[in-house]
Amino acid sequence: MSEILLQIDGKQVTASEGMTILEAAQNAGIVIPTLCHHEKLEPYGACRICLVEIEVGGWTRLVVSCVYLVAEGLVVKTRSPKVDKTRKGILELLLAHAPDSPQLTALAEEYGADRNRFEHVASFCIHCGLCVRYCAEVAEKHALGFVDRGIRKEISFIPEIAAKECDDCKGCFPLCPTSYLQAAFVLVESLAFPRNGK
Ligand code: SF4
Ligand code: FES
Repeated sequence: MSEILLQIDGKQVTASEGMTILEAAQNAGIVIPTLCHHEKLEPYGACRICLVEIEVGGWTRLVVSCVYLVAEGLVVKTRSPKVDKTRKGILELLLAHAPDSPQLTALAEEYGADRNRFEHVASFCIHCGLCVRYCAEVAEKHALGFVDRGIRKEISFIPEIAAKECDDCKGCFPLCPTSYLQAAFVLVESLAFPRNGK
């Protein structure tokens, strides 16, 4: 696999062909915030918080670093006025769904995002897909999935599978950036497969 030289935040970084900008940055110890990325899962590109600014032919544009591949001579900025402003806007939208998420709150402080800019929608899930993808790709149980579309989209446990598989796993729980997942599990557990004594 050939080596690729690029610049991230003014630092010369060596990466391998096929790596994403996020992976190259992480290997170089440069932090880019992520919400839907996990190293064990296929890239998803849903939350957009990892966007960075790249320079190509004298023009700059924003790209999603967890899916955008490195290229020879690429110049990347992980922070810039454009990057920070866009991340702030994304955070404000996500905070409308999960205003108390510690992960979002910490990022909001860093980027000056207003948690009350948009009317709160008590959905608590930010649709990062980490739980659904972890269950399918790593645990290979398919105990939960997304139902519905658009603003109605939500995660849903499949009671018949969850009743058998989740007790010994729960590997998705710590991945959820909002803690909604645990609440959804407790709800489905109590409604669909209550245990004796619960
Ligand atoms: S429940 Fe949590 S982990 Fe699952 S999609 Fe929603 S925010 Fe992401
Ligand atoms: S971490 Fe890249 S889009 Fe979510």
